[in-house]
Amino acid sequence: MSRIFDAMNRAHGLELVSPARRESPSYDLIPKPSANGFRKLTLTHDPNARTIFRTEPKGVAAEQFRLLRRKLAAQYPQGSSLVVSSPSAGDGKTFSAVNLAWALAEKKLPTLLIECDLRRPSIARFLGCSVVHGMESLASEKVEPEDVVAVIDGLPLYAAMVAKAHTNPVRFFNSVDVKKFFSWARSKFQWLVIDAPPIFPFSDVAELCSFAEGVVLVIRARRTSQELVTKSFEALGDRVRGVILNEATLCLDSYYRYLGRYHVDPNSKDQ
Ligand SMILES: Nc1ncnc2c1ncn2[C@@H]1O[C@H](COP(=O)(O)OP(=O)(O)OP(=O)(O)O)[C@@H](O)[C@H]1O
Ligand SMILES: [Mg+2]
Repeated sequence: MSRIFDAMNRAHGLELVSPARRESPSYDLIPKPSANGFRKLTLTHDPNARTIFRTEPKGVAAEQFRLLRRKLAAQYPQGSSLVVSSPSAGDGKTFSAVNLAWALAEKKLPTLLIECDLRRPSIARFLGCSVVHGMESLASEKVEPEDVVAVIDGLPLYAAMVAKAHTNPVRFFNSVDVKKFFSWARSKFQWLVIDAPPIFPFSDVAELCSFAEGVVLVIRARRTSQELVTKSFEALGDRVRGVILNEATLCLDSYYRYLGRYHVDPNSKDQ
């Protein structure tokens, strides 16, 4: 456990850093949603859609994502690129990535949500939309980066999703097409939020780390195995930039209370 605490303290320290505020750079390269070259996404009212900023924008969960946004925006005033991953399947990575990206865009920060769980794509289901050109088309059809990006009307929220599951993500992530995509994306958007597969048992996350500044680790209260949490911190080392304790309100035992205290810091001046 002490290694977890050490790693979390490192991440905690990073999160509490309050860098001097600088002027935000101009993102003239990003076309305005009303007059951009990107395809517009039509979001349906699918009851299975799980974007809390659409279903419960005034709820506690949306507020928690706004709190996380404030902390990240204070930590990275120029924006950043973050992989959202977790120790195991079903911890809430996609839920967290979609809602974090929405929270950033709600504050008018141009944000690209990138689906990189090629084995189990689900962002389209969360948003309630369909995908025309998926990320996989970058390699299979040699489409240009802008062709796989769509914009949500009225927000600087852009999404690059997967249409068809891919069986060999590692080879895909190592392709020149994907490297070109990420370098294009970094030059165009202030924030990249990358929805990743779990850390175990695949090596996809290690590959994805080369495209990002760090990792936000999602841990689901009472569900994620403590052993896998330990192994995840060991595997990620100082690449952890923050921890989301998903469904934290349900946690009661001391181990998770510790994590909960870490995540929601009532004394932070950056909120
Ligand atoms: N805080 C939450 N409150 C309610 N439902 C949640 C919450 N977090 C996740 N869920 C639900 O739990 C399920 C798993 O969440 P999600 O798909 O985000 O996990 P994941 O870690 O991305 O899974 P996978 O490893 O399969 O990609 C989904 O049905 C999602 O809607
Ligand atoms: Mg997922």
